Amino acid sequence: MLLEARDLTKVFGGFRAVAGASLDVAEGEIVGLIGPNGAGKSTFFNCLAGDNPPTTGTIRFRGRDVTQATPEAHARAGMARTFQVPVTFEDMSVAENVMVGAFLRHSHRAAARRVADEVLAFTGLDHLADTRAGSLGTPGRKRLEIARALATEPVMLLLDEALAGLTPAEVRLAIELVRRIQQRGITIVIVEHIMEVILSLAERAVVFHQGRVIAAGAPRDVVDNPEVVAAYLGHHMKRVRRA
Ligand SMILES: Nc1ncnc2c1ncn2[C@@H]1O[C@H](COP(=O)(O)OP(=O)(O)OP(=O)(O)O)[C@@H](O)[C@H]1O
Ligand SMILES: [Mg+2]
Repeated sequence: MLLEARDLTKVFGGFRAVAGASLDVAEGEIVGLIGPNGAGKSTFFNCLAGDNPPTTGTIRFRGRDVTQATPEAHARAGMARTFQVPVTFEDMSVAENVMVGAFLRHSHRAAARRVADEVLAFTGLDHLADTRAGSLGTPGRKRLEIARALATEPVMLLLDEALAGLTPAEVRLAIELVRRIQQRGITIVIVEHIMEVILSLAERAVVFHQGRVIAAGAPRDVVDNPEVVAAYLGHHMKRVRRA
């Protein structure tokens, strides 16, 4: 297994945002992580990426225990992530933002720029390279977030609602981009509320509810699972049923 997360919990005060969740991800997979708002998906990602380590449980990545490793150590080991709320250096150009990722493995500006240029072309942002990042709209920011993660040359990419807020046409383009990322040999875990995205991209879906995994399996089966539908009641059930 590329990633093995075992019995993770994350406690804030007396509240268990992640309450004993496990996830195995094999190399090359695209795993979809779904669940209603507040289910603990982003908190789980923060644990996996070292941004906020778990209270208990263990995480192994590429065979090494990284449970308490820093975000930078995770990145060096080949794990990249995007944030649900994009982290953009507003006053820097799009290319410079991507170079921030590339500096993880390249200390020279020219080398970082070469990596950034390649990633900008790959993500279709090349024509915006010199644009001030702060002037980008939602689709551009979401794509930039992915580009900066790719510039760290990851083995695994965690996407936290990287497609949220896009129009249906933009979502289709983003789905295409995620497929091309997988074709590069990058393993992907994607958190997404848009069921079309999960159904068309994920080979396996894992459902979070109240900090636990309540179902896992083929995306179509998972979406039809009565327990999953019940967990979504009052949240995203309509989207589930429509998909
Ligand atoms: N730093 C924190 N301190 C206290 N509570 C937190 C913290 N971070 C998250 N929580 C709580 O943990 C729960 C899970 O939040 P989380 O953001 O992981 O959910 P989510 O599944 O990503 O939801 P969404 O789909 O809305 O993004 C929520 O009740 C949230 O308020
Ligand atoms: Mg979230």
